[in-house]
Amino acid sequence: MRRKFVAGNWKMNKTIPEARQLITELLLTLKSLDGIDRAVCPPSTSLPMAAKLLQGTGVGLGAQNMYWEDSGAFTGELAPAMVAELCEYIIVGHSERRQYFGETDGTVNLKVKAALAHGLTPIVCIGESLEENQAGKTAEVVSRQVRGGLADLTPEQGAKLVIAYEPIWAIGTGLAATAEDANAIHRDVVRPALAELFGEQVAQGIQIQYGGSVKPDNALGFFTQSDIDGALVGGASLKADSFTAIAKAAAES
Ligand code: 13P
Repeated sequence: MRRKFVAGNWKMNKTIPEARQLITELLLTLKSLDGIDRAVCPPSTSLPMAAKLLQGTGVGLGAQNMYWEDSGAFTGELAPAMVAELCEYIIVGHSERRQYFGETDGTVNLKVKAALAHGLTPIVCIGESLEENQAGKTAEVVSRQVRGGLADLTPEQGAKLVIAYEPIWAIGTGLAATAEDANAIHRDVVRPALAELFGEQVAQGIQIQYGGSVKPDNALGFFTQSDIDGALVGGASLKADSFTAIAKAAAES
């Protein structure tokens, strides 16, 4: 049985004092929800503080980006080992990074390999644009992203991944995919693509989160689907009450 995994992607929000306040509030509830995996992914500046606060709580910490090289002249970047000093998770290939910062399936692949080499669990984001969706290309786009981003990994490495299916048109729009539609993509497209790469048994064990306008009032609908194993939450992860409500829904499902 796959555990549910709810992670908050804070994106470019919260100063250090604000992040400390939110994590402190979240811990009141999240600490005890040990039937699910849960994590927060604040901006890099708050990671050292967050790592200290979260130590021993069972709540994981993730970064939102890193580079794939070990060290060197890469101004502005964080190395995998630097992220691994503080975090367990790293978000890779978020659509905002693909759109604004030129990430491709090729760079996603380099980052995934670097993350795994440093003991980090990559949360690999995939998802189609509105145009691709309307042109009926969702399955094609998503399976290409899985194959490209996860190329040349062994089944042992595949077993360590988390996937987040985030249709771009659902991100930050309030227009979530229906739970049934999202589940169909997870069950009929993403998991079969994972099975092609890593075998059926490994694919059945990989957590596939849904992301895109997940809120307290629609979360349970996603979590009761066969192949939706949690959520990657943006906007609703910035407030303690909404993120804990989503995590509680995952714990109940
Ligand atoms: P929203 O929950 O704000 O739609 O963002 C989803 C997302 O991009 C999480 O990575």
